[in-house]
Amino acid sequence: MQRVLTKTVLFFIAVSFIRGNATCDDEMSFYADGVLYAQSDDWNALSAISIPCDTTVMAIKCQDKGGIAGIKAALDNGIKTNISWKCSNTFESGWNQIGFNDSAWSFAVIQDEASWRSHAASLVGKADWIWTCACPGGKT
Ligand SMILES: *[C@@H]1O[C@H](CO)[C@@H](O)[C@H](O)[C@H]1NC(C)=O
Ligand SMILES: *[C@@H]1O[C@H](CO)[C@@H](O)[C@H](O)[C@H]1NC(C)=O
Repeated sequence: MQRVLTKTVLFFIAVSFIRGNATCDDEMSFYADGVLYAQSDDWNALSAISIPCDTTVMAIKCQDKGGIAGIKAALDNGIKTNISWKCSNTFESGWNQIGFNDSAWSFAVIQDEASWRSHAASLVGKADWIWTCACPGGKT
């Protein structure tokens, strides 16, 4: 008796992602290399972020709708919002793309964590709330 054995080879394409969480007070758009990956208009909720591991530029747009304003994010590769982020309150085309020259942009200003109390609690101590200015009343 003959037996025919077939062998199925499965190819797995390993795509790895950088994961993390982000929020902003109030309306957030999260980009990786210019591509939109997450959007939220709820500053009280964290958005799960999952972006390709070869991402070069992470960029967050945030619109304040009144009151305090800030952006907070932490990713599992150690990237987190802090004073090393550059920011601007003026739109410039290509701002979220690879190769954008941000040398004219200012470093972010750390906001008072206490203003948000325990909101975005899982990021407390992991990342700073940042904004373009030390302006507790909000506004860009
Ligand atoms: C800011 O965060 C980055 C990681 O995103 C880290 O490498 C850097 O040391 C931090 N800077 C300060 C001043 O904490
Ligand atoms: C970036 O812009 C600054 C001025 O804001 C300029 O001095 C610098 O040469 C630019 N760098 C590149 C690589 O274009």
